[in-house]
This record gives sequence, structure tokens and C-alpha cells, in this order.
Amino acid sequence: STPIPFQSIPVYPYPSQSIPIPSLSIPVHSNPIPVPPHPFPVPPIGSHCSAGGGFQPRGGARGGGAGPRGRGRGGARGGARGGRGGASRGGFRGGKKVTVEPHRHPGVFICRGREDALVTRNLVPGESVYGEKRISVEDGDSKVEYRAWNPFRSKLAAAILGGIDQIHIQPGAKVLYLGAASGTTVSHVSDIVGPEGLVYAVEFSHRSGRDLINVAKKRTNVIPVIEDARHPHKYRMLIGMVDVIFADVAQPDQTRIVALNAQHFLRRGGALHHLH
Ligand SMILES: C[S@@+](CC[C@H](N)C(=O)[O-])C[C@H]1O[C@@H](n2cnc3c(N)ncnc32)[C@H](O)[C@@H]1O
Repeated sequence: STPIPFQSIPVYPYPSQSIPIPSLSIPVHSNPIPVPPHPFPVPPIGSHCSAGGGFQPRGGARGGGAGPRGRGRGGARGGARGGRGGASRGGFRGGKKVTVEPHRHPGVFICRGREDALVTRNLVPGESVYGEKRISVEDGDSKVEYRAWNPFRSKLAAAILGGIDQIHIQPGAKVLYLGAASGTTVSHVSDIVGPEGLVYAVEFSHRSGRDLINVAKKRTNVIPVIEDARHPHKYRMLIGMVDVIFADVAQPDQTRIVALNAQHFLRRGGALHHLH
């Protein structure tokens, strides 16, 4: 958690020229997330809730653990109860009782079955975002759906599996996500913060932005901002103060980009995650 002094800026009327940004000599300490080398050694979690051999690296063979295909033999349909309930249907399979338990990070869960997987509770039950598998688990009389979170497609998931200490992204949090791409990780952040939280998702590529907007159409806690994160004054009217900034822009000047956004939007005592 990095306290950053917030430089207040006038909202109305605002100058047509660029807004004076205070010097970048403010103490901004990035909180690097250790990203394991690729190929990622198959972690103990993330490889077991599906019968097909667990998660595949991006571009790897489909039809395995995290692939979008349907249920195979030995499906967990009507699975046994226990823990938070037995899996009743969805993509996970393996013929063994499947349960879901909370992870150390609030809002993140572990699906335990024949194989284990990192999952988030689906904010939009019945919908996958990028072909990821879903599992529906009985919780008393009702059902709760979870989505597999593939560490080969999301550095945040990889960091969690790698044992990151704190993610600061939790239920109810307001998150500014820089470098949202098509919304893969954003969708899981949206699951984690839940209906009480918000994800402002900034992406400057219009191509990726189209997918991101489609994700946001179904996820009311995602606000897509199709702008260059180098110019936070362009979207300052859209964004309130946030608890967490998560940055994955992969740019040479990314530290400067994060600092600018923190000056505008990070609340006092808020947290920064800066992937590099
Ligand atoms: C590594 S990808 C992000 C992947 C994404 N975080 C995920 O996990 O699904 C980096 C993204 O940052 C975007 N990006 C790079 N520079 C940017 C900028 N200045 N403003 C907004 N988006 C930017 C790129 O277009 C690209 O989609």
C-alpha cells in the first residue's frame, strides 16, 4: 500500500490546455508483481478442477482444463455436497466431488476437485468472457457459479498462484485498471469487487476496446474508458477516486503513466499494483 499525496485539480471549469501535473518527484513506489517465467511451472492450484489436464498456456492446446469445450465423461453433474457445496454442472469435471473454498485473498476462491483451480464468483451467471470454464456449486438451496481463472492468460492470477502477499483488490473496492485489453483480467477483477465495487478499465486500442465494451455491457461494475492512460485529464470527468490502481500497460514510460494516474485518482492510503 503506497500513500500518495493527491493533488487536487479543478473540475469545472477546466482549462482547455493541459492540466498542470505536479512534479513526478512524489514518492511513488511501485508494487511489482512477480511474474513467473514462461513456460509457467504448473502450480499446485490451477491444474486440477478439470479432467482435461488443467490450464494450458496461451495459444496452447485447447480442450484441456481451461478450454471452452463442453463436459466430457465423468462430469460432476449433481456432485456431492460438502464444503460450500458440490458442483452440479458447468465446465469442471473429473468424476470427483468438487467443492469451492475461499482463498486467502477475499473474493478469490479455489475449486477443489480431482484437480484444483483458481476461480472467481461469476457476477453474470451463465456467461463466460473468454471461453473459460464455469462451475455451478450448490450453496444451500441456491447455486453459485464460479469462473476458472487461467494463470496463463492473466498475470494477476499468476501472481496469486505465485503467493503474492496482498492484491488490495477485494469486494467493494474501486479499482482503476490501466491496460485493460479485451477485459480478460478485468472480468475477474469485476467478479472480485462484486456489485458494490467498480472497475474503471482504461484501454487505448479501439480494437481491444470493442471487446472491453462488450464485457462492460454485461458487467455493470465495469466502466470502459477508451483513452490513452498518458492523458488522465481526458477521462477525469468519468472517474472518481479509487482504492487501487492496477497497471499493465507494458510501455517504456509505464511508471510515469501510473504516477500521473495516481496523482489524479488514487485516494490517500490507496494501493498501486504496477506490473513490469
Ligand atoms: C499486456 S496487455 C494487458 C493485458 C490485460 N491486463 C489482461 O490481463 O487481460 C497491455 C495493454 O495495454 C494497452 N496499453 C498500452 N499502452 C496504453 C496506454 N498508454 N493507454 C491505454 N492502454 C494502453 C495495450 O493496448 C494492451 O491492450
